[in-house]
Amino acid sequence: MTGSQGWSDLFEPIYAAAPWPMLMLGEDGTVLGASDESGNGSNPGASAADAPLRERARHYLALLRGDVPWLTPQQAESERAQPSGELICERLHLRRTAWGACLTIIARPDPRQAQAADLQTARLASLGFMVAGVCHEVTNPLTSLHSIVQILRAEKQPSPALLDKGLANIAVNVKRILDISRRLVQFSRVGDEPRLRFAIDDAIEEAAHVLRQQGRLQDIELQHQPDLAATLSGNIGQVREIFLNLFVNAAEAMAGRGRLNVVTRSAGAWIEVRVSDSGPGVAAGLASRIFEPFFTTRAAQLGTGLGLAICTEIALEHGGRIELCSSAPGGASFCVTLPRGAA
Ligand SMILES: Nc1ncnc2c1ncn2[C@@H]1O[C@H](COP(=O)(O)OP(=O)(O)O)[C@@H](O)[C@H]1O
Ligand SMILES: [Mg+2]
Repeated sequence: MTGSQGWSDLFEPIYAAAPWPMLMLGEDGTVLGASDESGNGSNPGASAADAPLRERARHYLALLRGDVPWLTPQQAESERAQPSGELICERLHLRRTAWGACLTIIARPDPRQAQAADLQTARLASLGFMVAGVCHEVTNPLTSLHSIVQILRAEKQPSPALLDKGLANIAVNVKRILDISRRLVQFSRVGDEPRLRFAIDDAIEEAAHVLRQQGRLQDIELQHQPDLAATLSGNIGQVREIFLNLFVNAAEAMAGRGRLNVVTRSAGAWIEVRVSDSGPGVAAGLASRIFEPFFTTRAAQLGTGLGLAICTEIALEHGGRIELCSSAPGGASFCVTLPRGAA
């Protein structure tokens, strides 16, 4: 067959059936046809901003391997940056045909998104680790609910006082279960924020801002000593969550009144943030338990015991850790250590 008209007649039905963009190559590596030139308007997987396939052919052909690359069946990976900065990642599949070869171009996720997917997997693994605790934790309020309902049903005409007490108890237990489930749902979502480089002090300031707006730092003197060199790669929303939890815990320990000191320091490959409060500190016997999921010393309706467990998971996912670094009677001090720069 000769002439581009002839080739396009042959390729047209193939293009119409194929769900992906295709380049048809001749025995000598010339481009015989491209699916986005198809007369039937079929142009699957094409982005409006993208250059025509024929113009991208040189880029794709340069990625192929072999003595006669355009005729060697293979798979190759392509990454192209658009002028807008958008990264287009594609997988190329080359197969021999009667006229030479067919190169299929299949879009694949941006590695930055793939990283988000990896994060999601890591988060699911963390959740799995917490699930056993959840079952245990939810059993107590459910058992209480069950017995209150039994008691109320056993009374033919419960007194208003008993009814009031029963309903109040039901409300407390339902709230506890709701708190647990909300926190876990929140934790299970990594969000689609990509892992970006950011200053840890921005995450700290954002957390403080959220709490100021909620009026939770009203009587707390917050001092923050930033370090401009303390940048890291990761998910700023998640790292902010660490400081939200630490600040809320400190505020609660100080009963809403006292001093909160936050010092950021970068040293070599690590960033260390020390969060110290002027509360009562953590009792010596409890220090090893406070990071356990569901461990709380607060009244049932106030604490889920998930705050520090969630902080630990987020720190681990970012390649770091969180510790209680001192707990003198003058207050508790938590240290967040995260790798500087790298994810
Ligand atoms: N800054 C602090 N000062 C004293 N105790 C703390 C502090 N932060 C955490 N704790 C202790 O650790 C426990 C677990 O904290 P956390 O995991 O955030 O759960 P919760 O706040 O729901 O109790 C708290 O109940 C408290 O006993
Ligand atoms: Mg907490």
